[in-house]
Amino acid sequence: MACRFPRRLSVSALIIGVMIGFFSFSVIDILPINLYFVSEAEFMDTYTFRDGFDNETGVDRFIVPNIIHFIRFKNFELKFMDYVVVMAAMRNHRPDKIYFHTDIKDAKCEGKYWEWVKNDSELWSRIEIKYLEVPTEIFGQPLSEGWRLWHGSDISRVRIIKKYGGIYLDNDCFVLKSLDKYRKFECSVNWDEGQILGNQVIIANKNARILPLWLDTYKVYRSDLWYYNGGERPTEEILHHHPELIHRVKGDFGTDDGMSPNLYLNKEFEWRHLDIIHLLIGQRIFWDPNYNATPVFDENNIRTYPYPIGEMIRELLGMPQPPKTAS
Ligand SMILES: *[C@@H]1O[C@H](CO)[C@@H](O)[C@H](O)[C@H]1NC(C)=O
Ligand SMILES: *[C@@H]1O[C@H](CO)[C@@H](O)[C@H](O)[C@H]1NC(C)=O
Repeated sequence: MACRFPRRLSVSALIIGVMIGFFSFSVIDILPINLYFVSEAEFMDTYTFRDGFDNETGVDRFIVPNIIHFIRFKNFELKFMDYVVVMAAMRNHRPDKIYFHTDIKDAKCEGKYWEWVKNDSELWSRIEIKYLEVPTEIFGQPLSEGWRLWHGSDISRVRIIKKYGGIYLDNDCFVLKSLDKYRKFECSVNWDEGQILGNQVIIANKNARILPLWLDTYKVYRSDLWYYNGGERPTEEILHHHPELIHRVKGDFGTDDGMSPNLYLNKEFEWRHLDIIHLLIGQRIFWDPNYNATPVFDENNIRTYPYPIGEMIRELLGMPQPPKTAS
């Protein structure tokens, strides 16, 4: 069975809704309820940013639509950990929509964990599938052959946020808390002290001024470097000169590669204060001595897994916690 595609409002209903919405918005200076009938995102699209936008306090209402975006190039199957990530986004943040952007034509939501997703009507009703081709080039420069999916995803996430606005998450970013506090800013990105930005999480309005600049940094594309265009170049070319273009998040999106291994190695690791943590799951093989014993997590082995990743997932899925063992 194919995935459900969104039902669309008729165009006239949309136009009338927007007209009524704008009228009441200009007359009474409050957020008009009828706009919610049309689309919250439509309203947010009208936001324009100017010099002096306060990147420290943001504004007093939501200007980022409550849409979570995931990119799944070449692989639409869900594994247990993919399911966990989607559930964490759903339960801990509660988005209005979850968009899966994939280059798989006629993507099917099949397999055990998609069945689990479908079985959760609150979650399933929020999911939309969007077709998106993997980029092959940027400003006339071909993407790295070996890293095309990854470099293509780096580019696509910026384009997606520029198109829709919302919350972009890597497929291994575990949401721990509501992200609503970031929905009052033009663009929030994790940029730790003395480091380069982490592009695993981008929360922004589609009109955020940094987005076109970010894409422009690809005029110099280094296909031979893993994270030059993903993080290094936008940090140097944009953030060093215009830090006011983002709400700088230090640590709380958990994108620091030094932090993530604690989930698998350090029983004392404190994760509860974070908003998100990057699970770095694909890299476990390189540094986790327990990788060979448990290369793949599933709903059975997670029940007793003695490291924080186990505790986090059990808490999310309502599984009982085993008695603590000494570390
Ligand atoms: C779907 O949910 C129901 C009720 O929670 C449960 O009984 C059933 O086993 C679930 N089915 C699948 C495929 O998970
Ligand atoms: C806001 O922008 C200023 C530069 O104007 C920058 O120094 C500061 O770190 C930014 N604050 C946050 C929270 O991003």
